[in-house]
Amino acid sequence: MKISSSEDSFLLSDGNKIPCIGFGTFGLDNNKKGQDIIKTAISLGYRHFDTASLYGSEEILGKAIKASGVSRDELFLTSKVWKDDMAPGDIRKSFDRSLHALGTDYLDLLLIHWPRANENDEEWEEHLLMAWNTFIFLKQEGKVKSIGVSNFLPQHFDVIHSCSEKPVVNQIEFHPGYMQTGTVDYCQRHSIVVEAWSPLGRGALLNHPVVEEIAKKHKVSTAKVLLAFCLAHNVLPLVKSSSKERLKDNLSLFDFNLSEDDLYVLRGIAEKTGWSGQHPDLSIPKAKVGDF
Ligand code: A2P
Repeated sequence: MKISSSEDSFLLSDGNKIPCIGFGTFGLDNNKKGQDIIKTAISLGYRHFDTASLYGSEEILGKAIKASGVSRDELFLTSKVWKDDMAPGDIRKSFDRSLHALGTDYLDLLLIHWPRANENDEEWEEHLLMAWNTFIFLKQEGKVKSIGVSNFLPQHFDVIHSCSEKPVVNQIEFHPGYMQTGTVDYCQRHSIVVEAWSPLGRGALLNHPVVEEIAKKHKVSTAKVLLAFCLAHNVLPLVKSSSKERLKDNLSLFDFNLSEDDLYVLRGIAEKTGWSGQHPDLSIPKAKVGDF
């Protein structure tokens, strides 16, 4: 599906559509201030919101949606089940808590947030298989329209390969300094839409000289260069900002085109520039729901 406007969507392999730019709520102020930012984003035209049980932002997102007056069916809402809640009963409890906090009776997309609970879990494959089958049941029960995963590498997909439904999305860290080419290739070959978390390299790439030079050439912000970089690789960016001007700027990224040369130069940025330091198997976050 060709993406040429912020109102366009990616087609998921289950037939559903997902708006091509998402608003990420990780790290957002979880009180009135955060709620106001989301309200502003909705008023500017954002329709795709990404949250997680871990982030603590589901409630403010629910409140902002209610206050916005925009109807539920115009919005695309994603949430995630945290890695410590992967037992079938815990998944259902987490999911119900998410629905309640968001003030909705269904999700557009539910993701397994992390493939394994910790580095020492020798039974992670069994746990993952059980978790994914529970996700399939939730979908069959009509409580969630699409199901997917986050922070998965090809070896994690292997575990659930023979299940009756495949993940339609993999949300991973993606930016010029951490492109995860093997994983992106794997996903795209299997019709799994890749979503980018931290598409701006957690802010670290915004002042990178290579990005600055390209931004200057096109007379756009460095943020727009980085978001356009995602879309040029068929990766869906999840972007966040606390400023109305920047929120607006980030939505208007279709007024210029990155050339093949620009993309080549951006891909040459040193590996791990702006990297979070997180790895699905080797450096698993310790955070528990409620820590944020
Ligand atoms: P701010 O809230 O001050 O706008 P990432 O998504 O890679 O983790 O990076 C997010 C950070 O990038 C946010 O903290 C946000 O800060 C900043 N940001 C988002 N959009 C822009 C923009 N258009 N220009 C500059 N900084 C931006």
